[in-house]
Amino acid sequence: MHLWPTSANILLALSSALVIHAYPSAYSQARAPTNSGLARRATTCNGHAELCDRSYGNVTFVGAHDSYAVGVNNLAVNQDHDITTQLNDGIRMLQMQAHLQDGNIRLCHTSCGLYDGGLLADYLKTVKTWLDANPNEVLSLLIVNSDNRAAAEYDTVFKSVGLDAVSFAPETPTLPASGWPTLGSMIDSGKRLVTFLDNAADPSIPYLLDEFTNIWETAFNVIDPNFDCVVNRTKGDPSTQMYLINHFLDKLVFNQPVPDIDNANQTNSATGLGSLGTHVQTCTTDHFRPPNFLLVDFYEYGGGSVFQVAADVNGVPYTPATPIARPITSSTGSTSSSTASGNSASPIGSVHSRGHLLACLIVIAGMAFGPYLLL
Ligand SMILES: *[C@@H]1O[C@H](CO)[C@@H](O)[C@H](O)[C@H]1NC(C)=O
Ligand SMILES: *[C@@H]1O[C@H](CO)[C@@H](O)[C@H](O)[C@H]1NC(C)=O
Ligand SMILES: *[C@@H]1O[C@H](CO)[C@@H](O)[C@H](O)[C@H]1NC(C)=O
Repeated sequence: MHLWPTSANILLALSSALVIHAYPSAYSQARAPTNSGLARRATTCNGHAELCDRSYGNVTFVGAHDSYAVGVNNLAVNQDHDITTQLNDGIRMLQMQAHLQDGNIRLCHTSCGLYDGGLLADYLKTVKTWLDANPNEVLSLLIVNSDNRAAAEYDTVFKSVGLDAVSFAPETPTLPASGWPTLGSMIDSGKRLVTFLDNAADPSIPYLLDEFTNIWETAFNVIDPNFDCVVNRTKGDPSTQMYLINHFLDKLVFNQPVPDIDNANQTNSATGLGSLGTHVQTCTTDHFRPPNFLLVDFYEYGGGSVFQVAADVNGVPYTPATPIARPITSSTGSTSSSTASGNSASPIGSVHSRGHLLACLIVIAGMAFGPYLLL
């Protein structure tokens, strides 16, 4: 009979521990930390002391649209530098399209047959390495959950690379722009990765946030350089939500929207028709505050102008320590680029001219995948 009280005590202790931790623990890592109780206090946040006391929801970040879709002279890509380069240059939101392929979540463009950017797990490993090396940075991920996979499946992948441990989860699944903690407190608490899923977010995994209850977006796949600021997608109240502008210009090739790279310098620039700067100004006027996320293609076109626009909005100087990457074109030699590796699985990936063959492939792909081929 000696064992009884012991087992009972253990059971009791266990169950009370469960009662205490079951619900709150889901959100405990999330709790917006107060600065007072913490020994460490970040003095530089995302490169600027001024940003430490600013709410995450009151900062403008530059994002890379289809950040994993990297390549040269390939109509299925939206960037020409890998994500480590993107992050080193100042990208602070990585947008990606996830697909289920052979039981794994991979980052593909429309279909893994068209463009395969590799495993989500490998991509997230790179993100983790960068975050570890850059402890004073807050970063956001925006995952387009193309095959409606359960949040639990993403949770498994995040845990496999240790990103769950640095992920911020708010106390409630939805926060207004004004409800976010400061960058400084996020950095101090070590919870400085913010991840949004465009669908299938689940409050039982509180660090994988629902995008559209937290963020509204402008239209995407725009082919008119007069980008507008109309609320295009939301599941919340746009007057209080954070918002994202899709500022990447497409053109129609055989009726398929593809990135208009010939105009990328102007699209990314700070001033003039079709520029990021003009789009931000229009949206700030229309919505009484600037956008939180500026999603762009080929971010380095414009020579850093996209970061200049964000810095201006944030009221900080843009002074990169080293010059940002330069555009990679076939004439500047794509084969020497570190970005060329691992992305050549698709037939389009190996095409090195925009000639007849490419046009044929687009037509074939268009027939196979329908009109909105390359979102
Ligand atoms: C942040 O707040 C300041 C002060 O109200 C404002 O000037 C700035 O535009 C805001 N930025 C964003 C992205 O909300
Ligand atoms: C969103 O934008 C697309 C064009 O990209 C348009 O076809 C659609 O009607 C818009 N939806 C709303 C609700 O504005
Ligand atoms: C973009 O700007 C860069 C630097 O000014 C220039 O070298 C390049 O040719 C431009 N690209 C296009 C497509 O206009």
